[in-house]
Amino acid sequence: MKIIGTGSVLPKKIVTNEMLSQFLDTSDEWITTRTGVKSRHVISDEKLEDMAIEAAQKALADAGISAADLDYIICSNVVNEYITPQLSCIIQGGIGASCPCIDINCACAGFIFALDLAESHYKAGKVKNVLIVCAEEPSRMPDWADRRTCVLFGDGAGAAVLGPGDNIKSIKLSSSSATDRLWQMRRLQPTPFITKEEEDVPLQMKGQEVFKFAVKAAEKDIRRTLEEVNCTPDDVDHYLLHQANIRIIDSIRHSMEQPQEKFPTNIEDHGNSSSSSCPILLDECRKAGRFKPGDLISMSAFGAGFVSGAVLFEW
Ligand code: ACO
Repeated sequence: MKIIGTGSVLPKKIVTNEMLSQFLDTSDEWITTRTGVKSRHVISDEKLEDMAIEAAQKALADAGISAADLDYIICSNVVNEYITPQLSCIIQGGIGASCPCIDINCACAGFIFALDLAESHYKAGKVKNVLIVCAEEPSRMPDWADRRTCVLFGDGAGAAVLGPGDNIKSIKLSSSSATDRLWQMRRLQPTPFITKEEEDVPLQMKGQEVFKFAVKAAEKDIRRTLEEVNCTPDDVDHYLLHQANIRIIDSIRHSMEQPQEKFPTNIEDHGNSSSSSCPILLDECRKAGRFKPGDLISMSAFGAGFVSGAVLFEW
């Protein structure tokens, strides 16, 4: 398969670090130094499904195909207002497609897991064109009185259309259960029979443990994809990493011994948009004319679970 179109949408509301320091015990200096984030786009009156549909339409237009040409839709999402139906079915209706669709929740690594799922369908000869949409509103997950988490996130939707080709060189995934490091719980509807304690818990994170996991997992995943096709880190033209924290990105870059110009970022004005971060960065780099045909791109993401993955592909 091959990525033949990309698209992305951000909410219009921009929240700066200065705005956060008006209601939180924080500062632009702390947030910028520890995370690299200066501002982020957060949902206000938008609906996530509308942003997802618009990102999908942009990716289809970029690919030059219509919704009727799609054989499968994969939506990556952690939270949205609907528990059911799945977001991918809402996107399907919004763009006027009629193919099967599926939602996955692989936290921030969702785009890589979606590519892996799509690749299985290509290898089985079941599809010609696949749409992946990552639509996330992580700003709705933390407690906005908790300065340790709420400053990190931004919302957005990123999409990619896949067509036939041989551009995906390697995908490696990993999962290792660590449910007390990064988690959130919601209370379901009560029933007359529930006797256990249940509670709504906003996003909880052991930041330093997540940080260490992310650096280790990303380097391992990236190296595994390179080894599979006998390439070295120097052969890669662009590293598109999940935009979680500039210090995580810098640590990975240092251990891969690669120059900064190979690592485009948008964390400065987007924050961490969960699984949307990779396809949004891909779309922005494409629009900026950063890629030439034949460039080798390594993309890596990691998130709650823990889950992580990397993909090596040719542009
Ligand atoms: N403003 C000011 N001070 C703060 C803030 C803030 N926004 N947040 C925390 N602090 C304070 C803490 O309270 C602590 O103070 P104390 O020493 O008095 O207790 C101090 O700063 C240091 O806190 P640490 O947590 O040790 O800070 P650290 O340098 O580890 O940075 C951070 C925290 C940015 C969260 C970092 O650990 C990190 O980026 N971790 C990875 C997070 C990540 O990638 N998450 C992605 C997953 S999202 C997903 O999957 C949905």
